[in-house]
Amino acid sequence: MPTKEVQRIIRVDHAGERGAICIYRAQRFIAQLFYRDLVKHLDEMLAHEKVHFDTFNTWLRVNHVRHCYALWLWSLGGYLLGGITALMGKKAIWVCTQAVESTVLHHLDWQLEYLEVHDQSAFQAVISIKKDEEEHLNLGVNLGSNSIIYLPIRLVVKSSTKFAIWLSTKL
Ligand SMILES: [Fe+2]
Ligand SMILES: [Fe+2]
Repeated sequence: MPTKEVQRIIRVDHAGERGAICIYRAQRFIAQLFYRDLVKHLDEMLAHEKVHFDTFNTWLRVNHVRHCYALWLWSLGGYLLGGITALMGKKAIWVCTQAVESTVLHHLDWQLEYLEVHDQSAFQAVISIKKDEEEHLNLGVNLGSNSIIYLPIRLVVKSSTKFAIWLSTKL
């Protein structure tokens, strides 16, 4: 049985992928109506996040570890963040991507450091998603904006992502 800390790490990552799926789903829905050129990118990211979710889902099942009780909250939060940012415009979508993915990558870094010495199977699961998340971050950086007008979006997205991560370590 994996240690409590390892269980917690993968449970949070699993929940986070659910959140990411919902963000990109909501944005894709709105992009289809207003910014069709973005659909291809969003589909690609969505496909990645589904693979990530399955990776963690399988890990949890194989190791008989329960998933996070707050999965529904990640779904709801994801749809809200995705929907609201998409309605604020094209750039806002990428500012959101940048904020989410940079928070995610920051977490992956300390997790990988910890897992490398404590649990190889969990380490492999987490490292398998890193390249995709870096790709998403790059898209966000390249297509987004550093303008001060997006600062509130950045702050809200980052703090809600951090809050959800914190909450999921408790649930
Ligand atoms: Fe992901
Ligand atoms: Fe991602």
